[in-house]
Amino acid sequence: MSPPLDTAFARAHFPALAGPWALFENAGGTLAAEQVLDRIRTYMAEYQVQPGAAYPASARAAEMIAESHRAMAAMINAQPEEVMIGPSTSMNVFLLAQALKPGLGEGDEVVVTNLDHEANVGAWRKLSGEGITVREWRFDRESFALEPAGLAALLNERTRLVCFGHCSNITGGFTDVPALVRTIHDAGALACVDGVAYAPHRAIDVKAWDVDFYLCSTYKLYGPHLALLYGKRAHFERAAPLNHVFLDDELPLKLNPGGPNHELSAGLAGVTAYLDALHAHHEGESNLPLHGRLAAIFERIAAYEEALVAPLLEFLAAKPGVRLIGNPTADRHARAPTVAFAVEGRDAGEIARAVAAHRVAIGAGDFYAARCIEALGLATQGGVVRASMVHYNTADEVERLIRALDEAI
Ligand SMILES: Cc1ncc(COP(=O)(O)O)c(C=O)c1O
Repeated sequence: MSPPLDTAFARAHFPALAGPWALFENAGGTLAAEQVLDRIRTYMAEYQVQPGAAYPASARAAEMIAESHRAMAAMINAQPEEVMIGPSTSMNVFLLAQALKPGLGEGDEVVVTNLDHEANVGAWRKLSGEGITVREWRFDRESFALEPAGLAALLNERTRLVCFGHCSNITGGFTDVPALVRTIHDAGALACVDGVAYAPHRAIDVKAWDVDFYLCSTYKLYGPHLALLYGKRAHFERAAPLNHVFLDDELPLKLNPGGPNHELSAGLAGVTAYLDALHAHHEGESNLPLHGRLAAIFERIAAYEEALVAPLLEFLAAKPGVRLIGNPTADRHARAPTVAFAVEGRDAGEIARAVAAHRVAIGAGDFYAARCIEALGLATQGGVVRASMVHYNTADEVERLIRALDEAI
């Protein structure tokens, strides 16, 4: 029995879910909640003027953007000046790397992984042309995990930064961020964590985890195509400014040339409004602050997702010729409901197309985690097949997915 999450209530907030398709490519991008759509429409229809001037429409435009900035900061338990809103996580990591580069010297070391999306890898690897040594923390090909021992072997007195993911967009597996951050800090280095594949599934608490930099993309979090870069205030203060010279001391604008997109920023508070509505529907009135309310609803989402994904994992474990890429457990503490697999002798894209004939949308490819796919020896068969769920998927949809896969494999 699924733990209680009122999926009818959740789904009513996503107009596209009224269509005939079962959508299982949510790790590529989720739908945007109605609260987000409403805010973007209101901003563009009524307030699309230069924000922050001395007339009502302009003041309201500025306030809609500021509300969203405060909401995103509260969502991850940070202060607004510690949260930069940029166009994508790939761009945000690139900007961060440019801003930290002047603080790194010849022989300093940066650690990246071979499991993660290229966003938190490539921008750092490019620094190797500037005298910085880049080391690779390789995932264990049996457990599909980034084992702490692998990192321990790489850390030394020259390590300045360790860049890794909170959740793999291929395996769905979580890393233990607080424990890894402690290890990294003990070695005198900073931690930069890609939380893109984690954020749609679990609450984020950058303060509790003591992480130095944390990133997530809001278009995979029921919002518009934007992304958040959190950095501890002291790190942002020390970072090189990238924007207009007169903004050198403005946090976080100093890191964000051109500033954030206005109408999409205005929409961001719709993400927390949606999650809060989900919370109120399930938990009733609450005295908790927003971050506490989100933590509570994500607890419920985690339990729901664990039950949702279990039948798919069981089906794949029993299906001959299938190689699951990741931990076979549905345990909510170990993984998100993002499931990747390969089928012996079969091209991943061909399987995704066969499943699409049943109006079930899944993904195939490397999902820009090309180093992981290469290490698994799957580059020549089109990468992996990936089915990624979020809380608005239902047990019935998972049954449809399993039936379609059973025919296709
Ligand atoms: C785990 C992970 N990190 C980073 C990214 C890149 O995010 P963006 O598209 O915002 O650059 C993705 C996108 O798929 C991802 O899945």
